Amino acid sequence: MYNVESSAIVNMYAKTILFVFATLLPATIFGQSDAETWFKGGNFYQIYPRSFKDDNNDGIGDLKGIISKLEYLKDIGIDGVWLSPIYQSPMVDFGYDISDFTQIQPEYGTLEDFEELAENCKRLGVRLILDFVPNHTSDQHEWFIKSVNKEEGYENFYVWHPGKVNETTGERSPPSNWLSAFRYSAWEWNEKRQEYYLHQFAIQQPDLNYRNPEVLKKMNEVLIYWLEKGVSGFRIDTIPSLYEVAPDENGNLPDELPSGKCDDPDASCYLKHIYTYDQDETYDVVYEWRELLNKFHADNGGDQPILMTEAYSDLNHIVRYYGNGQRNGSQIPFNFHLLAKVNRNSKAADYKKLIEEFLQAVPSDCEANWVLGNHDQKRVASRLGEKRVDLYNILLKTLPGISITYAGEEIGMTDVIISWEDSVDPQALNTNETTYYAFSRDPARTPFQWDESKNAGFNRGNKTWLPISTNYKCVNVRTESTQPKSHLNVYKRLIKLRKEAGLGAASYESELFGEIYTYKRQNDSLKPIIVALNFGNSWTTIDVSARYGVSESLKVVTASTESQYEEGQIINGTRLTLPNDVGIVLTTV
Ligand SMILES: *[C@@H]1O[C@H](CO)[C@@H](O)[C@H](O)[C@H]1NC(C)=O
Ligand SMILES: *[C@@H]1O[C@H](CO)[C@@H](O)[C@H](O)[C@H]1NC(C)=O
Ligand SMILES: *[C@@H]1O[C@H](CO)[C@@H](O)[C@H](O)[C@H]1NC(C)=O
Ligand SMILES: *[C@@H]1O[C@H](CO)[C@@H](O)[C@H](O)[C@H]1NC(C)=O
Repeated sequence: MYNVESSAIVNMYAKTILFVFATLLPATIFGQSDAETWFKGGNFYQIYPRSFKDDNNDGIGDLKGIISKLEYLKDIGIDGVWLSPIYQSPMVDFGYDISDFTQIQPEYGTLEDFEELAENCKRLGVRLILDFVPNHTSDQHEWFIKSVNKEEGYENFYVWHPGKVNETTGERSPPSNWLSAFRYSAWEWNEKRQEYYLHQFAIQQPDLNYRNPEVLKKMNEVLIYWLEKGVSGFRIDTIPSLYEVAPDENGNLPDELPSGKCDDPDASCYLKHIYTYDQDETYDVVYEWRELLNKFHADNGGDQPILMTEAYSDLNHIVRYYGNGQRNGSQIPFNFHLLAKVNRNSKAADYKKLIEEFLQAVPSDCEANWVLGNHDQKRVASRLGEKRVDLYNILLKTLPGISITYAGEEIGMTDVIISWEDSVDPQALNTNETTYYAFSRDPARTPFQWDESKNAGFNRGNKTWLPISTNYKCVNVRTESTQPKSHLNVYKRLIKLRKEAGLGAASYESELFGEIYTYKRQNDSLKPIIVALNFGNSWTTIDVSARYGVSESLKVVTASTESQYEEGQIINGTRLTLPNDVGIVLTTV
C-alpha cells in the first residue's frame, strides 16, 4: 500500500523527509469491495479470554463474557478482535498447549457459545480472529499418544530422535544442545517409545513435524473447520520455530553455538537459534495457508480472511511473511520492530528511525502494522511510562497502516505485581523466587477493569484467577467513559479520526525537533493531520505551522490527558508548547 518514494533528504539540520504515497482512492476503483479490503487501516484488538470478562463467576473469563462485551468493542470502533487460544487444553501454558484443535476448553464455554459469539461479531461488524498454534500440540493430544505408540500413520507426526550414544560408556544423550524457550533442553526422553521428542516450549508441548505432509494436511483441515464456523482469519503463534533444520544423511542434528547474549547455559538466550528459528521452509507454509484462505474466500464469498503472524525476528525476516513477490503470505506480520527495541531511555530519533525503517521495508502492495503490547509483554504503561499512555496510543493510531491494541491498553492498565507464591505463568515458574519477575507474564494478564464495583466488574464471584489491580477504582472503562479527559476518550477519538477519512492510508512526512517527533498525514479527503510527540523530559516549544506549510491557527483533535490542551481548542501552531511525555494531534481549522 505504501510506496516510499524518497527518503533521507539531509541538510545541515539533519532533517529527514520520508514521503509515503498511499492509495488515496476509494477501494472500489480497483474493483475491490469492502469484503476484500476490510482489514486495511484497521483497528485490531487482542483479548486474552481468561482475563476479559467472567460470566459464570468461576474466576476465569469465558466466551459468554466476551459476548456480553462486544458492544463495548463496537462502541470504541474496533474492526477485528483476536482471541488468544480457547481450544481444549490441559492448560500447562494457558491454552497454548492444545489437546484438540476443534473443541472449546470447557472453562471458556461450548461450541454453541462460540457460534453465538461468531454470530454476534457478524451482526456488529467486529471481525473475529482466532489464535492458531500450529507447531506443537499438548502431550495429551491423541496424535501424540498415537505417535508415542507408533500407530500407523502417526509414527512421524512429531520430531523424534534416538539421541546420541557414547560408544565407550553406552550412555545416551539428547541429539543436540537445543534449548527450550522455557529453559533447559528442548529434548525430552520418552520411556515408552525409547526416543527423544523435541519441545521448543514446555515439556508437555511436543513439536509437530512439518516435514510430514500429513501433518500439514491435518492442520489445513483445522483452518477450514473454523473458517466454516465464520471466523475472519487467524493469528499464527510463534511462527519462526515451525521448522528445525533437517537431520544430515547420518540422522545427526547440529548443535547451536553460544550467542553471547547471556551467561545462563540453561536459558534459551544462551544459544544462537540458527537451526531452530527462521528456517526457509516456514515461509512456504505461511504462503500455503494464505492460498488456502484465498481459495476458501473464492469458493464461499464473504470477507477475505486474514493471517496475522507472530514473529520476533529481524526486519528482513518479518518482511518475508508478507510474500516473496510470487506468493502472498500474511497480511499482518506483527511488527515487533518497535516493541522489541524501545525502552524508557529511547530518544525521539530512535522512534523515528525504527518506524521509518519498517515503513520502507513494507512491500508496495502491503500495509504496515503497529503493536506495542500483548499477553507476553509487561504493560505499556509500566514498561514505558504511565504518563505516556496517551502518547503511545496516539502514535499507534496515527501511523500509516493497521494498529493493534492489547486489551486494557486503551484505558491505561498497568502491571500488577504478582508474588512468587501467586505466580501461575510457566515461564516464571521455570525460574526461581529471585529471578522470576523478569520472566513472568502474569502482571499483564490480570482481569480487565470494567468498573469500580467488586472485582472491577470482571465477575461477581469470590475469586479471580489472578489478582485485580489495586488501581481499578480509577482505571476502568466506566469511570473513564464519564470523564471528558481520559485515556479511553483519547483512544476513541483517535479511532474516530482514523475512520473519518482513511487516516491509515494517508501520506506520511516527518521531522524531528530535538526530542519532539512530529509527522504530517494527509490525503485528498482529509485536512492535514499533524502529530507531535514529546519523548524528552522538558516542556518544549516548536513551530509546526512553518515546517508543514499550514496555517498559524490549528485545531486540537486530541491530546494527552496530562496536557493543558482540550479537544477542539484553537492553538497557535507557530508556538506549540508540549510538556514532556505528551502527544497531540492537530488539524487545520
Ligand atoms: C564418552 O564418555 C567418556 C567418559 O565419560 C568421555 O570421556 C568421552 O568424551 C565421551 N565421548 C563422546 C564422543 O562424548
Ligand atoms: C512450535 O513449538 C515450539 C515449542 O513447542 C515453539 O518454540 C515454537 O514457537 C512453535 N512454533 C509455532 C509455529 O507454533
Ligand atoms: C502477491 O501476489 C501477487 C501476484 O499474485 C504479486 O504480484 C505480489 O507481489 C505478491 N505480494 C507479495 C508481497 O509478495
Ligand atoms: C535463581 O536463578 C539464577 C539464574 O539462574 C541464579 O543465578 C540464582 O542463584 C538462583 N537463585 C536461587 C535462590 O536459586
